[in-house]
Amino acid sequence: MRIYLIGAGVIGKAHAEAIRKLPAEDAIEVKVADPNPKALAAFVEAYPEATAYSDAQAMLAEEANEDDIVVVGTPPFTHFELARMALETGRHVLCEKPLVMNAEEAKTLLEIAKRQNRLLGCCSDRFLGLPKTEEVKSLLQSQALGDVYKISFVYRVQRGRSGVEYQPESKWFLDRSKGGGGILIDWGPYDFTVLNDLLQPESVDVVAAWMSQPKTQIDPTDTKYDVEGHVGATIKYNLADGKSVWLQYERATCTHGEAYHHVEVEGTLGAVKWSPYFESDEIVFKQDKEGQVDAKESQLPYTGLYNIMDHPIYYFYLQVKGKETRAIINEQAVFNFLCMQAIYECAESGSSKTVSKLRA
Ligand SMILES: NC(=O)c1ccc[n+]([C@@H]2O[C@H](COP(=O)([O-])OP(=O)(O)OC[C@H]3O[C@@H](n4cnc5c(N)ncnc54)[C@H](O)[C@@H]3O)[C@@H](O)[C@H]2O)c1
Repeated sequence: MRIYLIGAGVIGKAHAEAIRKLPAEDAIEVKVADPNPKALAAFVEAYPEATAYSDAQAMLAEEANEDDIVVVGTPPFTHFELARMALETGRHVLCEKPLVMNAEEAKTLLEIAKRQNRLLGCCSDRFLGLPKTEEVKSLLQSQALGDVYKISFVYRVQRGRSGVEYQPESKWFLDRSKGGGGILIDWGPYDFTVLNDLLQPESVDVVAAWMSQPKTQIDPTDTKYDVEGHVGATIKYNLADGKSVWLQYERATCTHGEAYHHVEVEGTLGAVKWSPYFESDEIVFKQDKEGQVDAKESQLPYTGLYNIMDHPIYYFYLQVKGKETRAIINEQAVFNFLCMQAIYECAESGSSKTVSKLRA
């Protein structure tokens, strides 16, 4: 099998690490392309098994094999063109989050993937398959919570801006024309992948949304900085059984308010609180017992060989091999992206926005 990495930056290296863990029976040939000679040299020093190219098109010029995989790990404004080019060479494409920059690009890529009979995957599936979130899913499915009516999904960080406090060398995070947005486009792909996996909605109504860019005394002045640091939305999830669940969504990467996170599903018979990400492996399940709140706490750590950063490569590799997997591909990848994108559209237009599940 051949895996072609486009982009030799931070995430390109994480993918190379994951490729090393893939089953040994598959001899995997790794190739990498990046026009930045420094990034390419650092990559090849760390991963000498990779053949290096300065140009992605040149790397993909050889004839395609049935199971070739191209991984697009470059800044978002390049995803569409690189993924389109890679699909058109007849290869499966796994694209970093965010899938693309806007709804039109997402739909066009899906059409090309279908026409080429290739898979289009998105790395927003990193946090799928964790035992704690699987447990929450089974609580929902078993009706242990009764009728679920509300989800709080709130992550507020005071100073955590990509391109400022985190990975300050990658200034593209701050420029909307390059990154597509701020905290929403950075973390929203994961949030809506986790939420859509839990709730399996038929459609999603973004009823109201807002965003802001809180200021600090170290705001960048030497580079374009026009992305949001704080966003919120009220969203209605319409489920297959005709019921609906309200989602209170909020993400801050810069706020003068309190830092906290709160992810909780509330139903008529119980509630469950957990963190789908790094903060903790604890689940707190609350029910009523004789008129009193009865809380059960459990720890569900993840101990698999493939860690969160390995998941996108591992899941997509299984998908290409035709095996059962948690990979997010094709219609689901585009639907998840559109749910997040609808928050931008609603915040900008002031009008609600509905996104319906795409059928294969
Ligand atoms: N850094 C993280 O922690 C992280 C985590 C998850 C996902 N991601 C996603 O990965 C993507 C890349 O982020 P990053 O942090 O690795 O960025 P980065 O700035 O570290 O690296 C991006 C690399 O892409 C290269 N590049 C740009 N245009 C190219 C082209 N046309 N062909 C080949 N290479 C090209 C650049 O030269 C650079 O080396 C983004 O979509 C980001 O959202 C990043």
